[in-house]
Amino acid sequence: MDYRFDLDFARSQDAHDPLARFRDAFHFPTFTGGPCYYFTGNSLGLQPRKAKDYLNEELDDWARWGVEGHTKARRPWLRYHEYFAEGMAALTGADPTEVVAMNGLTVNLHLLMATFYRPQGRRTKILCEGKAFPSDQYALHSQLRWHGLDPAEHLVEVQPDPESGLIDEEELIGLIDEHRDELALVMIGGVNYYSGQWFAMERITDAGKRAGAMVGWDLAHAVGNVPLHLHKWNVDFAAWCSYKYLNAGPGAVSGVFIHRQHHDTSDLPRLEGWWGHDKDSRFAMPDRFKPIPSAEAWQLSNAPVFSMAPLLASLELFAEAGGISALRKKSLLLTGYLHFVMESLSRESGQNLKILGPKEPEKRGCQLSLVVPERGRKVFEALSAKGVVADWREPAVIRLAPVPLYNSFEDVYRFGEILAKILKDEAEK
Ligand SMILES: Cc1ncc(COP(=O)(O)O)c(C=O)c1O
Repeated sequence: MDYRFDLDFARSQDAHDPLARFRDAFHFPTFTGGPCYYFTGNSLGLQPRKAKDYLNEELDDWARWGVEGHTKARRPWLRYHEYFAEGMAALTGADPTEVVAMNGLTVNLHLLMATFYRPQGRRTKILCEGKAFPSDQYALHSQLRWHGLDPAEHLVEVQPDPESGLIDEEELIGLIDEHRDELALVMIGGVNYYSGQWFAMERITDAGKRAGAMVGWDLAHAVGNVPLHLHKWNVDFAAWCSYKYLNAGPGAVSGVFIHRQHHDTSDLPRLEGWWGHDKDSRFAMPDRFKPIPSAEAWQLSNAPVFSMAPLLASLELFAEAGGISALRKKSLLLTGYLHFVMESLSRESGQNLKILGPKEPEKRGCQLSLVVPERGRKVFEALSAKGVVADWREPAVIRLAPVPLYNSFEDVYRFGEILAKILKDEAEK
């Protein structure tokens, strides 16, 4: 694509964008008091306009039916989690029986590790990426301590290059090989939250499995962002949240994937609750747990309907848009444009802007992480004052994620126009 940094170019791209109409399906924040250039779908996705309808329907059904809503609501609550299975399966390359919406992300990582992290004999170690999202680090450290193991000895971390922020996949795979007799688990964030690096998930999964370890992924920054084929890649388990690219609202429900090969294995332990029990006999209140033969067996509690309802609106939009492959097509162009704009500004302003993370589009999702030497925080604040909603991650990164469902090429152009002015003003000070 021959990009140009001008408004006509951006508008003509929008005019030919088959997904442009989906922008109107979302609420853009009004707090900026003027135009809002929203680039934080990697932190909290925008609200689908229909989210309120879905939520109100549940409130109305609760008012009308009380407890009877469990069976008589428009979407009976007894089965509420089932309404997400197809949409989440489509986004993750799973069979609907392999996914379930439940709990929060970190809770699910712990539940899944209760099953899939079983240190035994020499096989005790966990391999993860260095500088993983803090909650993942806390979860991994505390899992090790829970098993009486010292993280300093049993956690193998692959550190990113301090300059590029990238993790070298050859080094990562080399470490898996080096520790192949001691690894119990490989658990990595599919797309890194800081650099935006999208790991070669199939290759890493394969290397971990060949080493005899279980392989799990935290897909918080991957789901709804990049195409995934979890079943085909033979991933053991994965978990994600739905408040980022899945636009289901603050703190919204998490999703998990558990490969079919593990659904009826009795040798793997599982922390259990009544919602994982066989649906036909659940209300006979039997003493013995009989697992549902699917990922649903990992559910503990009945579904929190109100915090799940907005996800229905969002999954519907993903399906209408043609799924993740159609979105990825636009995403490559849109993030490519943002990359081009940042590089142009770096050249023209003579200020060595740095883009962390992969240069190759196929190794990243939609997010780019911009480093402005020395004055990063100031530039970030100046961008915010002009209606650019990006986010700042310590120590030095402005993260921007143009989301193909609702961002436009004009959004990216406007960001560039605003940044160019800020850099010029700074240079003249
Ligand atoms: C990669 C990653 N892992 C874990 C979390 C924690 O999520 P939660 O608060 O839903 O447990 C986040 C939150 O942003 C995240 O980005």
